[in-house]
Amino acid sequence: MSAPPLPAGFRLQEGPWERLAPGARAVRQTVFVDEQAIAPALEWDDRDAIATHVLVTGADGAPCATGRLYAEAAPRVARIGRLAVCRPWRGIGLGAAVLAHLVERARRDGHAEAVLHAQSHARGFYAGRGFAVEGAEFIEDGIAHLRMRKALAGCR
Ligand SMILES: CC(C)(COP(=O)(O)OP(=O)(O)OC[C@H]1O[C@@H](n2cnc3c(N)ncnc32)[C@H](O)[C@@H]1OP(=O)(O)O)[C@@H](O)C(=O)NCCC(=O)NCCS
Repeated sequence: MSAPPLPAGFRLQEGPWERLAPGARAVRQTVFVDEQAIAPALEWDDRDAIATHVLVTGADGAPCATGRLYAEAAPRVARIGRLAVCRPWRGIGLGAAVLAHLVERARRDGHAEAVLHAQSHARGFYAGRGFAVEGAEFIEDGIAHLRMRKALAGCR
């Protein structure tokens, strides 16, 4: 399945933290630290350095949405996380575009499955994109989460 098109005027980039950090950091600071009150010490971890990041910017270059992907310890399992869209740009398909891009990257990298820890309120967003809940709800960073998994069928 190919990724849904981005709304007109937006640009999606994929790259390492060294290149995308200024924009990705701005989105995550706004959404997770400022809006959701996640402690900075929990938000900024050592996975950023090894992850592949996605950043969506608007026509004026403003950072709008982000997400990341890295290999889990289990073989051929990709972990998706830190998916965030700044409030003014929610509901126009940016989150879906970032998630689809990360899933496609995981598939092309040869992963058999993608897993994520979804904030429980966003369960429907991920379920609509083929992720299934695995196990019971748990608290992470003070927020209710569900582990969700998607099989990545098809060839690389
Ligand atoms: C959750 C989030 C990433 C969704 O991104 P978005 O850009 O607003 O979503 P999209 O516009 O791409 O929506 C795609 C689809 O998901 C649905 N959707 C969006 N948010 C949803 C939610 N919280 N629950 C259920 N469905 C949702 C939309 O209605 C849309 O449905 P459609 O395909 O039938 O039209 C965004 O709201 C966000 O960043 N929230 C704050 C941070 C956060 O909670 N991140 C998730 C961490 S696990």
